[in-house]
Amino acid sequence: MFNLILFGPPGSGKGTQSANLLNKYKLQHISTGDLLRDEVTRMTPLGSEAKKFMDQGMLVPDEVVIGMISSKIDETENARGFIFDGFPRTKQQAIALDNLLDFKNTPINLVLALEVPDEELTKRILNRALTSGRVDDTEEVIKKRVEEYRAKTEIVASHYEDMDKVERINGEGTVEEIFALLCSEIDKVILPE
Ligand code: AP5
Ligand code: MG
Repeated sequence: MFNLILFGPPGSGKGTQSANLLNKYKLQHISTGDLLRDEVTRMTPLGSEAKKFMDQGMLVPDEVVIGMISSKIDETENARGFIFDGFPRTKQQAIALDNLLDFKNTPINLVLALEVPDEELTKRILNRALTSGRVDDTEEVIKKRVEEYRAKTEIVASHYEDMDKVERINGEGTVEEIFALLCSEIDKVILPE
């Protein structure tokens, strides 16, 4: 199996690049943001708990997200591997993910960290707000999400840097240019079928 974490701040292009990578490498996509938005839309108890945090740009509590990921991994038997998008977002989540994958004997192989300056992030997300209908795309909420990223999520990169699994990628440029950079890193580590 090949397990990839696509890492980076809000608006860095994780969702955009995941869609292309899934096709090319036939991996299973796990985006906690998408899963949470789905719970909110279906008005489940988990969704209404999560919504309180998401609407303010704050991280949803670890235990909620970890429980959700754990059942998602379990229900996806026979996957060739996973792309984790927007998860893990705290050190606690990273430790929980490592434990879950240990149990399955299939570790994280690579963490690709997209680096994009704050002004460009805000510009991209505000632009996306015009078409996506995502309610977390107001300027105030974006600012809070970036703050949460700097305060709680950036540290996840150091967790995997200690294991020598992180490659930093310049996330500015065209979608195609960034895709090519990501693929060249993946091709260095992916196991042939
Ligand atoms: P989530 O949905 O994960 O949002 P995010 O990480 O904040 O990231 P985005 O989805 O906004 O950005 P992205 O990196 O996917 O960029 P995209 O490809 O869309 O999380 C939302 C909320 O859910 C959180 O705030 C939190 O409350 C909660 N949550 C989720 N996971 C959680 C967790 N693990 N723990 C706790 N809480 C959690 O691109 C952005 C825009 O830019 C698009 O319009 C795109 O077309 C455009 N674009 C992409 N690439 C380029 C490029 N190269 N050049 C120009 N434009 C580009
Ligand atoms: Mg996304």
